[in-house]
Amino acid sequence: MSDTMFRLDGKVAVITGAATGLGAATAVALARAGAHVAVSDKPAESLQETSAKAGQHGHRVFEFDMDVRDLEQIRAGIAAVASEFGHVDILVNNAGINRPSPALEVTAENWDDHFNTNIKGGFFCAQEVAKLMIPRGWGRIIFISSQSGLIGIPGQPVYCSTKGAVIQLTRTLGVEWAKHGITVNSIAPTFVETNLTRKRLQNPEFLSFVLGKIPCGKLAMPEDVAAAVVYLASEEAGMVNAATLPVDGGWTAW
Ligand SMILES: NC(=O)c1ccc[n+]([C@@H]2O[C@H](COP(=O)([O-])OP(=O)(O)OC[C@H]3O[C@@H](n4cnc5c(N)ncnc54)[C@H](O)[C@@H]3O)[C@@H](O)[C@H]2O)c1
Repeated sequence: MSDTMFRLDGKVAVITGAATGLGAATAVALARAGAHVAVSDKPAESLQETSAKAGQHGHRVFEFDMDVRDLEQIRAGIAAVASEFGHVDILVNNAGINRPSPALEVTAENWDDHFNTNIKGGFFCAQEVAKLMIPRGWGRIIFISSQSGLIGIPGQPVYCSTKGAVIQLTRTLGVEWAKHGITVNSIAPTFVETNLTRKRLQNPEFLSFVLGKIPCGKLAMPEDVAAAVVYLASEEAGMVNAATLPVDGGWTAW
């Protein structure tokens, strides 16, 4: 084992949904650990700020548009990364949406949007990068699931279902691709203040409910999740596979 652990020097990492929030923090953390980062988001979302911050660590940064609901964009996007860097070592499937709706008010459109983005998109990104990883015999695929995939949260039946599916997909891909040197893991964060959650967390009643459920007594920070990604992407995490790591301050343990 080297003196310096969790380094990713020379690795190429793709991050989806990297314009804001956890994806942006993850791109910066991976660059800080030595990786070249290929950052993507839906067309029209600006990646400029993420690229500028990631670029400060002196490694290559490549921006590309990729709406993960669109399989053609996935194929073209991953092909563009392969053409830029020659290979892909790490995929962070981070892009996701959460539009809470009580079960009785869920529409088919709301259902399809969540499943197409949170689970179908992540699967096909994984499939596309695995085609590049398998011949090289090494890869790290990390899904950002959620504590909502481990517990039920009232008013979020669709989001929770997609995140539960992500955890099950993680197990399945992890056991299927381990023989190729690829590990597949997921991270299950508790609430982090981002564009996804800010409005709800600004409600003092909701914030107090959330903090009351987290034994550590605070929200997670984007950097807490990013640090877990760096670990799971590292050589040292090679025996961690098909697992889900809660970054939830203990919420799901009681
Ligand atoms: N914030 C939290 O409390 C929290 C907790 C647990 C899990 N998560 C998960 O973390 C991930 C990131 O969430 P966040 O909190 O940073 O939210 P965010 O809204 O700040 O970031 C999500 C990013 O995904 C992008 N995105 C959405 N749909 C996309 C699509 N179809 N194609 C490509 N990109 C798309 C958005 O443009 C945005 O940049 C999500 O998967 C979310 O479910 C968040």
